Amino acid sequence: MSPALPKNIKIKNTRKSGVKIIRRIEEMVGVSKEYRKKNKTIGFVPTMGALHQGHLSLIRQARKDNDIVVVSIFVNPTQFGHKEDLKKYPRNLKKDARLCKQEGAEIIFYPDASQMYPANHRTYVTVEKLSDCLCGKSRPGHFKGVVTVVAKFFNIVNPDVAYFGQKDAQQAIIIKRAVADLNIPVEIKVMPIVRERDGLALSSRNVYLNKKERKDAVVLSQSLDMAKHLIKRKILDPRKIIKKMNELIRRKKTAKIDYISIVDLKNLEPIKRIREGCLITLAVRVGRTRLIDNIILKFKVKS
Ligand code: PAJ
Repeated sequence: MSPALPKNIKIKNTRKSGVKIIRRIEEMVGVSKEYRKKNKTIGFVPTMGALHQGHLSLIRQARKDNDIVVVSIFVNPTQFGHKEDLKKYPRNLKKDARLCKQEGAEIIFYPDASQMYPANHRTYVTVEKLSDCLCGKSRPGHFKGVVTVVAKFFNIVNPDVAYFGQKDAQQAIIIKRAVADLNIPVEIKVMPIVRERDGLALSSRNVYLNKKERKDAVVLSQSLDMAKHLIKRKILDPRKIIKKMNELIRRKKTAKIDYISIVDLKNLEPIKRIREGCLITLAVRVGRTRLIDNIILKFKVKS
């Protein structure tokens, strides 16, 4: 399609891989407007690239639900701390474009940081309380960066539905809160965690792990399985479960626990007794790589 755009905007045909790569914000705004005019529904999958099956599961769902699928690829500098891996974060547009094409996405929105954050950029979105606990504690400012960039994307892409992974449970909860609080007219869909065969949750950061660390990393999902097992055996005191998870993880020499928490899914506050629908979540540094994982307790708790 060739949408009508403001005069100074040219859509370069970057369809080498069959998916259109849009780099300019104005162009993305114009293209979305055109789709909207034609009553096409837009599904949006925000990512930082280095796409894996976890990302692809979101794109697939977006493909099923919508007429048009937009995937953003942007390694968002405002969500990385000073000492974090912004510079070395894996980037591979060519491969990502191939995967997006394979999954039938129409557009990759691929802006650069100078467009997203010009020198006079001053506005940030903070979701209070929910951003300060769990990952927010060891990554101050992280969620402020996430919510800001996602809010900007929502304004640029104007999607009907946006897709997020349960893998980043706190992120999904915070974004849902922001969308409700700011009356942003977008539906948020949260999709299940995609895992490796041995249980490790897929993550773009798994490539940092050496052989030994990769082996040890499976302890995150193992500890969650163990928690489920304990709960089935009617151990309903979160402290006892956390202690057992702690012990299991500490057996791995490369692992250093950041947090293990059992919280209420809505307010992320620690709960006193296990109940259905609670979130068991943890962050562990394996070698120098910080990994996260979680489960939502789905089955009825029998006491
Ligand atoms: P990124 O880490 O690239 O993840 C993009 C989306 O993929 C997120 O919604 C994340 O939860 C989901 N995802 C990652 N691993 C997954 C897995 N194993 N299974 C299912 N979904 C998975 O999250 C971000 O980027 C950024 O913070 C972003 C929202 C793009 C803002 O910059």
